[in-house]
Amino acid sequence: MAVAMASTATVRFATRPDALAIAEMSRDLVEVGLGWSWTKERILRTLRHPDTNAIVAVREADRAGFAIMKYGDEEAHLLLLAVKPAHGRRGVGSAMVEWLEASARVAGIARITLEARASNAAARSFYGRLGYAVTQWLPGYYGGRETSVRMVKPLHLERTGAA
Ligand SMILES: CC(C)(COP(=O)(O)OP(=O)(O)OC[C@H]1O[C@@H](n2cnc3c(N)ncnc32)[C@H](O)[C@@H]1OP(=O)(O)O)[C@@H](O)C(=O)NCCC(=O)NCCS
Repeated sequence: MAVAMASTATVRFATRPDALAIAEMSRDLVEVGLGWSWTKERILRTLRHPDTNAIVAVREADRAGFAIMKYGDEEAHLLLLAVKPAHGRRGVGSAMVEWLEASARVAGIARITLEARASNAAARSFYGRLGYAVTQWLPGYYGGRETSVRMVKPLHLERTGAA
């Protein structure tokens, strides 16, 4: 499934040829200062995992960003999401979150959770604008080095048929 968004970014499922680019975006945009844990091999394992969705946003023929979400029974957890600075503030991140929320609704997921570094004002503003609220502070979350915040968005599932 590939969906062209108004922002001119196209969001699609990630495939094996995307693995190195995703790993490098994680290293350079998300894991800065924490050590590189989302290596190409880990991304490839994630792509094979049935409970996980990895997506890529393509803009101007470039992999502009990516996201990885893990699905539980009622809750989905947004593990990673990043947009390259060259494609920033053009709706690419929002397009990926909207894509993931739509897929989560189809899967009957009640809420999406994520963690962000407490110091990451851009991410907190970004997710806040998309309806995510801080529910918890987690001191020492990232390898004991940084405080993070947990953010949650309930998905209002549309019910069909007679109640
Ligand atoms: C945070 C991030 C995902 C935003 O992606 P993006 O594609 O630039 O976001 P959008 O263009 O969809 O922004 C939507 C809104 O979010 C808010 N926002 C986005 N970036 C922001 C920033 N740097 N500062 C303040 N608000 C920001 C704004 O309200 C923005 O709307 P506007 O541009 O009309 O003002 C991106 O900057 C990024 O990848 N950062 C590094 C990695 C990261 O922090 N990932 C998330 C935590 S793991």
